[in-house]
Amino acid sequence: MTSDQRPIGVFDSGIGGLSVLQALHTELPHERFVYLADNAHAPYGEKTDLYVRQRTHAITEHLLAQHQIKALVVACNTATAAAIHELRTQHPQLPLVGVEPALKPAVALSQTGHIGVIATRGTVASDKFARLLESVQGQARFTVQACNGLALAIEQSTLPQHAAQAQKRITELLAQYTTAMGTFGKGPGQMDTLVLGCTHYVFVEKPLKALLGPDVQLVSTGEAVARQTRRLLETAGLLRSDPAPPQTIQRMRLFTTGDLNGLEAAARRWLDLPQGACHKAPEQF
Ligand code: DGL
Repeated sequence: MTSDQRPIGVFDSGIGGLSVLQALHTELPHERFVYLADNAHAPYGEKTDLYVRQRTHAITEHLLAQHQIKALVVACNTATAAAIHELRTQHPQLPLVGVEPALKPAVALSQTGHIGVIATRGTVASDKFARLLESVQGQARFTVQACNGLALAIEQSTLPQHAAQAQKRITELLAQYTTAMGTFGKGPGQMDTLVLGCTHYVFVEKPLKALLGPDVQLVSTGEAVARQTRRLLETAGLLRSDPAPPQTIQRMRLFTTGDLNGLEAAARRWLDLPQGACHKAPEQF
């Protein structure tokens, strides 16, 4: 086996993709990662399709040119829905993995046959999501809710100066959106499964569980995406076979187009990464 030491690129509109990076890091302990948080242009979920497609292309070109990535994980449901198809056409040689709401795994898990899905407005409104929903039609009942403002509040909750207010906003939004969806629980007709269709939402699992109770299972995609990335790299002969650099800081480099303090705080909190792992991305690309 050859040993390809180039890093794997991972990006999201902000810190949401760190939940996927966490899973990738565990699944692929020999690999190096470059993460780009496009905070200056977030939230993607409330922007136009064209805007998200343009950002996705610009980031991909940047990661290829500046970091020589060997594969790309689009750790954002919104960007995957808007751009993965075009990206595959434009970069046929680049192994690409996207994320989408885990509807099929949820069907397998649900006992009541009623599944809730929360995601950004962009994801919910996309053709790709419509096709996904269509593919599980008749297998369960789905209640879908776009959660405007939630990804932004999660971003802000990492900034010390906004944390308290953002936490309050998160609590309000979660209560508002889950109430609008209907009743959760194990009873007949109730939703016993909730799909987290935005990578940011993994970071509010705790308050969601507190709100919905122990009978409701939350489904996210990080681990499945990490396994799929391993499979693709294996098939393409791109896995790194020699041991990775010993320190996490040498294995993960994180960049932001926005506020460096926010990314540092999130990386420390969610990945236990030291400050030196985070950097400011170049101004324009
Ligand atoms: N984390 C992203 C997703 O999975 C998008 C959040 C946003 O920027 O709106 O959809």
